[in-house]
Amino acid sequence: MRLIHLPLLLSSIIGVTTAASSFTPARPPALPLAVKSPYLNTWLPAGRDGGNGGYLAGEWPIFWAGQVAAWAGLIRVDGDAYTWMGAVRGRNGSDVQTVTQIAYSYTSTKSVFTMDVGGKVEMSITFLSPVTPHDYKRQSLIFSYLNVEVTSTDGSEHDVQLYSDISAEWVSGNRSDIASWDHDTTSTLSYHRARRQEQLAYSEVSDQSQWGDYYWATEDSETLTFQSGGDAVVRGSFLSNGSLPDTKDTNFRPINEDYPVFGFAKDLGNVGSAGIDTLFTIGLCQDYAIQFNGSDGYQPQPSLWKSYFDSDTDAIDWFYQDYSTSSEMSAELDSKIQSDSVGAAGQKYATLTTLSVLQAFAAIQLVGTSEKMYIFQKEISSNGNMNTVDVIFPFHPLLLYTNPELLAILLEPLWEIQEGGNYPNKYSMHDIGAHYPNATGHPDGLDEEMPVEECGNMLIMALAYVQHTGKTDYLKAHYKLLKQWTQFLVSDSLIPASQLSTDDFAGHLENQTNLALKGIIGIGAMGQIANLTGNTEDAANYTAISRDYIEKWEDLGIAKNANPPHTTLAYGQNKTHGLLYNIFSDRQLSLDLVPQSIYDMQSEFYPTVEGRYGVPLDTRHSYTKGDWEMWAAAVSSSSTRDMFIADLAKWINETPTNKALSDLYDTETGDYPVDTPQFIARPVVGGVFSLLVLPGAAGGSSGA
Ligand SMILES: *[C@@H]1O[C@H](CO)[C@@H](O)[C@H](O)[C@H]1NC(C)=O
Ligand SMILES: *[C@@H]1O[C@H](CO)[C@@H](O)[C@H](O)[C@H]1NC(C)=O
Ligand SMILES: *[C@@H]1O[C@H](CO)[C@@H](O)[C@H](O)[C@H]1NC(C)=O
Ligand SMILES: *[C@@H]1O[C@H](CO)[C@@H](O)[C@H](O)[C@H]1NC(C)=O
Ligand SMILES: *[C@@H]1O[C@H](CO)[C@@H](O)[C@H](O)[C@H]1NC(C)=O
Ligand SMILES: *[C@@H]1O[C@H](CO)[C@@H](O)[C@H](O)[C@H]1NC(C)=O
Ligand SMILES: *[C@@H]1O[C@H](CO)[C@@H](O)[C@H](O)[C@H]1NC(C)=O
Ligand SMILES: *[C@@H]1O[C@H](CO)[C@@H](O)[C@H](O)[C@H]1NC(C)=O
Ligand SMILES: *[C@@H]1O[C@H](CO)[C@@H](O)[C@H](O)[C@H]1NC(C)=O
Repeated sequence: MRLIHLPLLLSSIIGVTTAASSFTPARPPALPLAVKSPYLNTWLPAGRDGGNGGYLAGEWPIFWAGQVAAWAGLIRVDGDAYTWMGAVRGRNGSDVQTVTQIAYSYTSTKSVFTMDVGGKVEMSITFLSPVTPHDYKRQSLIFSYLNVEVTSTDGSEHDVQLYSDISAEWVSGNRSDIASWDHDTTSTLSYHRARRQEQLAYSEVSDQSQWGDYYWATEDSETLTFQSGGDAVVRGSFLSNGSLPDTKDTNFRPINEDYPVFGFAKDLGNVGSAGIDTLFTIGLCQDYAIQFNGSDGYQPQPSLWKSYFDSDTDAIDWFYQDYSTSSEMSAELDSKIQSDSVGAAGQKYATLTTLSVLQAFAAIQLVGTSEKMYIFQKEISSNGNMNTVDVIFPFHPLLLYTNPELLAILLEPLWEIQEGGNYPNKYSMHDIGAHYPNATGHPDGLDEEMPVEECGNMLIMALAYVQHTGKTDYLKAHYKLLKQWTQFLVSDSLIPASQLSTDDFAGHLENQTNLALKGIIGIGAMGQIANLTGNTEDAANYTAISRDYIEKWEDLGIAKNANPPHTTLAYGQNKTHGLLYNIFSDRQLSLDLVPQSIYDMQSEFYPTVEGRYGVPLDTRHSYTKGDWEMWAAAVSSSSTRDMFIADLAKWINETPTNKALSDLYDTETGDYPVDTPQFIARPVVGGVFSLLVLPGAAGGSSGA
């Protein structure tokens, strides 16, 4: 599909060479390039502070944490060279001229750039990271596509050569580390393979993995040449000759010593009005991805794709050939999310949902075997914890919407550890390991303590899963622990002791109104769980307790005399307020515990405390959380809902942050808050799918 683009036509008519790019549906703080797992997570920084505004040429792609992951693109048209990706310098040290970016657009799975090259040819550059929630084989591959289509636009044929490389910066977060590499072919592909020379299994530097092989591949042909070597040498070969000498540099050395790059050049010959495609793939192969302390003890877990492929090269061959199928599957998901989102709350809402999918899915990885599969999640940027319950919780609407079975697989390690008797506390564990990829568990019970928070979250998610799948056996299997957590909530949720909620950056607090509500909803959820599993007495008991508690909570947690009235941040503190996002679960689960008057009250209140880019999380700070805003929005009146959505969509377009979407930002400056860690690339952005998992929402996952 090609776009006829007005700025291009105008610029060629009036000779303007620096047309501004369009950004559709928004210009995010970072544009997703190869975003498929915690370790394959490369973005183009776009925000004001350090990004270049979203232009692929002239700026280096970065790993989510901020360090450069050089990925270069060059093109020669009738002998004139241009950069289309990266900040490439020629041999003489000056910048190589850049193509003119006309348009950028994103969907749930793709970033697409349209470039004009000297008014002669157009490039359509597609970065596709497939998301296949129902197809575990495809989802398990840590690979991403780059397709470049070149077409003549001026009615003449042009002599075109295309070039792209990655650098050794991809293989380790420590630029002093020695990389090694090789080039080889399969029956169809030409590929470069690069790795940290000394493999350090399961270890990270600056969040990059220190083990595994990166594969950078394209179709082998007579017109393809390759080269490995120093960046200036390899790119210089292409700039002067339009081809590479098919040579390998064997001087394995530190990444930052004469930066080794792995290049491909393709001679496209004479390019006319029929587009010519060149497809590249980039990916990471690790035989073992995770260490997990489950019922078999602390064991390495194989990457799930190992169950489907005998070797790395089988996997890269298959993935390359799968492009058209994979593109179709991704396009289906793209259009479902787009139309469900527009149907639920309009295009601005679609701007949020479609931007969140790749980021959220890239925080998880499928491991184990096809018989015993696990999903492990990294709490990216905040602390690296694994399968954090209060990170899964905001993320879980995306899984309910796309495939609720993924939620069960993601929760499985939490059940396995706690039901195996390897966690001593009577409340739910916070996470299964302090740092990805080592899920050591917490046999000493000294994980970050969020007792009411995590008990409520587990009860709510267990019921939500069963409501979406009808699999009540799930609740029977986990009944004992669910009841234990409920008993904890019965004693600790109405008057919550000083503790952390999920918003731990805001500190400890007693009597948190929103946290108490979560606990009470958890008890109400257990009433339903007991009912569904035939436990009549428990059903009656927990339902009654939750109804009693909610009445008491209304007395304790509302500033009734305020104008307008609203819930407080903490009991009795009538001058405080906060986002009452936990109310969402009452509606999500159809518990009918919270009276409609509370929903209405909050809907009327939020617009009175709206900042420039949204409603602050609470009265302590001007910052907010985008995921929780969207939970509050989902159950607000339509006008208040649309206010939240419009503010968040505006923030995405205007924020000075320049890394993958933050869920924590200042509602006045739009920047990272000054007094918290920077939250980047976290999976919690999946929480924007809140609207699409409410009862009766158009886009439910069931059956899909
Ligand atoms: C530097 O090299 C680039 C291409 O590599 C070329 O376009 C430019 O003219 C050169 N500049 C000088 C001053 O030689
Ligand atoms: C990076 O590698 C160098 C050289 O091996 C080493 O001295 C240094 O400690 C490493 N830094 C980190 C953060 O691993
Ligand atoms: C995981 O554990 C291994 C030892 O098994 C250790 O070398 C590695 O540094 C740990 N990784 C992280 C990220 O802490
Ligand atoms: C360009 O190609 C010629 C002949 O193929 C070769 O002699 C020359 O070294 C190449 N130049 C570069 C910069 O690679
Ligand atoms: C795994 O869990 C067991 C049982 O709780 C514990 O004894 C052991 O220390 C844990 N292993 C690691 C590597 O943390
Ligand atoms: C109701 O549940 C509470 C808390 O688990 C328990 O203490 C109480 O005995 C239960 N009552 C009945 C009638 O089961
Ligand atoms: C918490 O709320 C309870 C019930 O209103 C009250 O007795 C207690 O003093 C409160 N604690 C604080 C620190 O306000
Ligand atoms: C579950 O709830 C329904 C509707 O309130 C009720 O008819 C049924 O008896 C309950 N079942 C159990 C096992 O509590
Ligand atoms: C807060 O407001 C409630 C009524 O909404 C009132 O009963 C209570 O006394 C007020 N507390 C304070 C400290 O003013």
